[in-house]
Amino acid sequence: MRIAIPVLVIFFTAIFGFSCSGLHVETQYDTGMVTSSSPIASEIGCQVLKGGGNAFDAAVAVGFALAVCHPQAGNIGGGGFGLVYSANDGTVTALDFRETAPGAATADMYLDTDGEVVSNASLLGARAAGVPGTVAGLYELWRQYGSGDWYDLIKPAIDLADTGFVVSEHLAGMMAGYKEELAVFPETRAIFMPGGVLPEAGRKLSQSDLALTLERIGLDSTDGFYRGQTADLIVTAMEAHGGLITHDDLDGYRPVWRQPVTFTFDSLTVYSMPPPSSGGVMIGHILKLLEPYDFYAYSPDHPEYMHLFVEACRLAYADRAVHLGDPAFVNNPVSMLLDSTYIDSRRKLIDRDRSGVSTEIGSGIPNRYHESESTTHFCVADSAGNVVSITYTINTAFGSKLVVDGGGFLLNNEMDDFSIKPGVANIYGLIGGTANAIAPGKRMLSSMSPTIVMKNDRPVLALGSPGGSKIITTVTQAILGFARFRLSVGEIVALPRFHHQWMPDTLYIEQGGFDISVVQNLIGRGHLIKERSRYSDLQIIHITDEHLLIGASDPRGGGAVKAY
Ligand code: DON
Repeated sequence: MRIAIPVLVIFFTAIFGFSCSGLHVETQYDTGMVTSSSPIASEIGCQVLKGGGNAFDAAVAVGFALAVCHPQAGNIGGGGFGLVYSANDGTVTALDFRETAPGAATADMYLDTDGEVVSNASLLGARAAGVPGTVAGLYELWRQYGSGDWYDLIKPAIDLADTGFVVSEHLAGMMAGYKEELAVFPETRAIFMPGGVLPEAGRKLSQSDLALTLERIGLDSTDGFYRGQTADLIVTAMEAHGGLITHDDLDGYRPVWRQPVTFTFDSLTVYSMPPPSSGGVMIGHILKLLEPYDFYAYSPDHPEYMHLFVEACRLAYADRAVHLGDPAFVNNPVSMLLDSTYIDSRRKLIDRDRSGVSTEIGSGIPNRYHESESTTHFCVADSAGNVVSITYTINTAFGSKLVVDGGGFLLNNEMDDFSIKPGVANIYGLIGGTANAIAPGKRMLSSMSPTIVMKNDRPVLALGSPGGSKIITTVTQAILGFARFRLSVGEIVALPRFHHQWMPDTLYIEQGGFDISVVQNLIGRGHLIKERSRYSDLQIIHITDEHLLIGASDPRGGGAVKAY
């Protein structure tokens, strides 16, 4: 009873031609590499590298291309995070371009007069949208590190939107799965169901309004989105659909450079996203809880390893629910969560043989500390040694499902990542409290975990994934696959996954991924197990000691590694 792990094709020789090579899951070259959820976007990024652009230029081009050809997650109407290694000065920094709550947002904006959650209100339509950060974020990345011409980096996306791109099987399947939601708003129907029907795989999809919006961004940078015609279109959409985003909200949006969360694990140093993402500190806390256990001898589907991993997650997600939120609003206990004394005290709660009971586990940090499917990931590495790892999102697939009329792009439904009522789960089953309550201008807590792993002051891995709350366990299992199980990146992306997030007290395992004896062993330890369909879409680049690049794009998704 195992999932069939696709046979990975490994290319060791470069094939030169007009396009970059590497349509397969894994490939290796020593010049430049892009891995993303779309072969088209990876190719565009690879061409930028081939033309002399650096990794930051390529990341900008990939980000805008995905907004066209991967509309379920790629975006200009959402937000995200980037981890950036600059070979020039040897530093790793974190770029936060997360959406913010509109100025008129209130803590109870998704509750009715009885204080009950209004179904779907934080997920569907204009009111679900936070102020988008992607355009400002990609511009900031380029402003700080880019070397190419801004317009030239957006031009491939403009062309892709204008002349259209061939819809893949993967995208056609996604659209079919969301057919009803994509039909809710006429503006969205007009783009994704031209002539009233969804495009089939192999058909071209062009997006002329989006091409014009991208052209304005290309010509006027952030002014082409946050001010002028695009801003007018967004505000008009808000007025038409009861949304809250104003010209002032758009005009005032700013990305933020942050210090990454940093910790060591074995001989590696991990850099990942700090709050307002929970990703970095959660990965750090889980790995630090697990570090003393010697499971080198086990396999990644060994019940002893899986049990310990789950127990570490149970503890970590209990703290996530209570303590984490936008650092501009709450005091995140990041250093406490990475502190060895606290970690040692929490580890004592782990029983090596029996599962814990989530209702009996709370956060271990006193409350006073708080006084004060869809997302997408891409990685780029260039020949100079620069590395970019970006996860960005419009939250659920196709976001709020609302396309800005005349603007041609989907708005996010990121407001659902706030805790809309204490104890009420969001779409990913995550619960939260006041630390992640809605407030004007606040960034909603995220699980996105763009990560760069270093060894001897040199990047060895760039990775990240979509998957909502499962991003954290996906990325953590990938790091363990590399550090403890000595797997290749091709093997890591194909690993069957498992997940636990404290509440609900359920161990999710990927359907067909685990031997029945493993499942029985875990049930015997007291775990409540549910199978679920395959999830996440991990993208990884491994940079070897010899500066060979080995990339892998998750076989569950429709992506590709491209290199030259
Ligand atoms: O920021 C977050 O944590 C979520 N909005 C991410 C959503 C996601 O990964 C959906 N993808 N499957």
